[in-house]
Amino acid sequence: MRVLGIETSCDETALAIYDTDLGLLGHEIYSQIPLHALYGGVVPELASRDHLKKLPIILKKLLAKTSCAFSDLNGIAVTCGPGLVGALRVGVSFAQALGLSLEIPVIGVHHMEGHLLAPMLENPAPAYPFVALLVSGGHTLLIEAQAFGVYKILGESLDDAVGEAFDKTAKMMGLPYPGGPELAKLAERGRPNVFNFTRPMTDRPGCDFSFSGLKTQVLMAYQHSDKSEITKENLAYGFQEAVVETLRIKITRAMELTQAKRLVLAGGVAANQALRSCIANLSKIKGWEIFYPRPEFCTDNGAMIAYVGAMRLGIKLKKLGPKEVINNQINSQINIQGRWSLEDLSKPADGLLQ
Ligand code: KG4
Ligand code: ZN
Repeated sequence: MRVLGIETSCDETALAIYDTDLGLLGHEIYSQIPLHALYGGVVPELASRDHLKKLPIILKKLLAKTSCAFSDLNGIAVTCGPGLVGALRVGVSFAQALGLSLEIPVIGVHHMEGHLLAPMLENPAPAYPFVALLVSGGHTLLIEAQAFGVYKILGESLDDAVGEAFDKTAKMMGLPYPGGPELAKLAERGRPNVFNFTRPMTDRPGCDFSFSGLKTQVLMAYQHSDKSEITKENLAYGFQEAVVETLRIKITRAMELTQAKRLVLAGGVAANQALRSCIANLSKIKGWEIFYPRPEFCTDNGAMIAYVGAMRLGIKLKKLGPKEVINNQINSQINIQGRWSLEDLSKPADGLLQ
């Protein structure tokens, strides 16, 4: 079965084709970063309009690149939440129109399930059960993936997501959008023990996070500093060190709590080298197996959506048969959910496995 994956939940227009026998056939990612950089952050209305403009162009390019015709596609998977509602609506409308004209099933995919299972596109892929740290611009989650579609949230951020804290801290130091990778670059030149920030919520039990206080600490230190390049480098180092250390402590707790032996690191912030090397060292000491998606699949991409869609569509087709799936689709809408917990996928209303 060949499934086209469509991702438009934020500022990337991304498409991919996944074949259940051959694996990933190809993918395309178009980033809107230059469009939003002018405003210092994502402008939702501009994001929606640009997705609409780019989707047909990128699809054409992907079909040519993978030597696929429309008639080779057996299904479409599209991100339907969480994310920017307007941007999601563009992707879902495009997918539904295409599905209707090709008479193939369309399935909605949870964006974070995509991130969670992005390492399944690599070799070796993690076996279930595993613990995953999902760190992106919108989410900070520690999850126990017990089986496909059965996820337990062990901890999450009570305020800013890690990527958001990186971006906001970078912005206040005058770095260009998106600030996360820029701040990480600055931190590479910083020195240890110049700024020592707290490791938020590590003195309390549990696996929840809070990063907005840390961001404020850095802001105060910056405002009272000489604002020189060297100071900025040292502040970036101190901030990144506090984040990585906090994540290390919470990951250790989650692994001990679940007795898991496999750890997945995914989401945009999983591209951070300091985090990767800290967790790699820790895994060696603890004897854990660690899995990451390749860097371009850490950030938003269509491949992870095509993969999850292919798995879910496979289950649905087996259960209902192709005719019933298409009939269901004509009579029902794909629910667009700006906010949507990953744990809901395990509930009968949203899950497809029960
Ligand atoms: O997963 P993603 O592409 O989009 C969301 O769904 O949020 O993640 C983007 C986030 C941004 O906040 C970006 O600044 C952050 O990931 N990011 C990084 C790095 N690369 C991307 N943060 C820290 N260090 C990096 N190297
Ligand atoms: Zn994402």
